Amino acid sequence: MLISKTLEKAINEQIGRELGAQMQYVNIASYFTAENMLLFGRIFFGQAAEENGHAMKLVRYVLDAGGRIAVPAIAEARSDFKSAADAVAAALKWEEEVTVQINGLMDIAFKEKDYIAQEFLGWFVNEQLEEVSKMSTILSVVQRSGDNLLLAEQYVQQTPADIERVEGGGTAGK
Ligand code: FEO
Repeated sequence: MLISKTLEKAINEQIGRELGAQMQYVNIASYFTAENMLLFGRIFFGQAAEENGHAMKLVRYVLDAGGRIAVPAIAEARSDFKSAADAVAAALKWEEEVTVQINGLMDIAFKEKDYIAQEFLGWFVNEQLEEVSKMSTILSVVQRSGDNLLLAEQYVQQTPADIERVEGGGTAGK
């Protein structure tokens, strides 16, 4: 077995959080879609799929390392967004929290001198740079657009580099 009980438990908890993030993004994407902001809806549905990918990547790792999977209860996702900025700010806050959680997993891997886990978790560390940066950019664009949210969508649509970035084509990939 290539994984300690401590890391196995911690990664199982993270799997629950990533699936929770998937549900959170489904709610955010649905909020935008219901508000007829279809591009943002598409971006956040894509983000939900990415979170599922993160969870499954962790599942695969635990199984490959000889551990067991027990997905924990998943916290209820927010759906009471008062505005576009509120919804995107929730996403940014979530990603900042996930960054701390991933760092916590890396701390365990360092403490245990588990070099395989460190190598594996490096992907997630890098991914968080992209995720926090992506949400921070979208929030800033939404805030600057003021009452005219169509401007925010238009801006993202007209900036190919940003579109590629928000759709997961940045540094860390999917
Ligand atoms: Fe799985 Fe958005 O972090």
